[in-house]
Amino acid sequence: MSRLTVNDRPLEFRMDPQTPLLWALRDAANLTGTKYGCGSGECGACMVLVDGEARPACQLSLAEVEGRAVTTIEGLGDHGFEAVQQALVAEQAIQCGFCTPGIAISAAALLARNAGPSDVEIRAAIANICRCGVHPRLASAIRRAGEAMRRVSTTAGTADVAHQPPAPVPATPPVRGEQQ
Ligand code: FES
Ligand code: FES
Repeated sequence: MSRLTVNDRPLEFRMDPQTPLLWALRDAANLTGTKYGCGSGECGACMVLVDGEARPACQLSLAEVEGRAVTTIEGLGDHGFEAVQQALVAEQAIQCGFCTPGIAISAAALLARNAGPSDVEIRAAIANICRCGVHPRLASAIRRAGEAMRRVSTTAGTADVAHQPPAPVPATPPVRGEQQ
């Protein structure tokens, strides 16, 4: 049995403690937003926040996260990262969608420690594999989310951006011919 907090809810997993966190989240907790890609820690599709740090859930056992706080894509918005999700949509940085939850988690972890990352820092932090070439839009989305988070932080007079509600990100411009 393993006890941990998932998306602010204390959970008790009555499973073999060596079960990968990814399977516990998906199959037992029904949190299927965290995806299975490679299963070997390479692709980033299964990223979750563990005490605020982006970690691949396929490489962690339940025993390794005993007593820790795990945030999945389902809980990301409640932790002050709506700006990340909104910016991914606004910059059209979502293609297949399968990789997006892990990308959003990696981006949130980066912006929590550095809301104004350089392109080099973005490339280093977002190692998620995406075959559709979305990385330039992804970098734009992360810069956009960082700007929104910095605005909120400045307004609130605190550097604790991770726990501040983000400023709304403008919506994607309507497609030509679409009704406004
Ligand atoms: S499924 Fe975990 S890193 Fe690919
Ligand atoms: S978003 Fe999935 S392959 Fe690029």
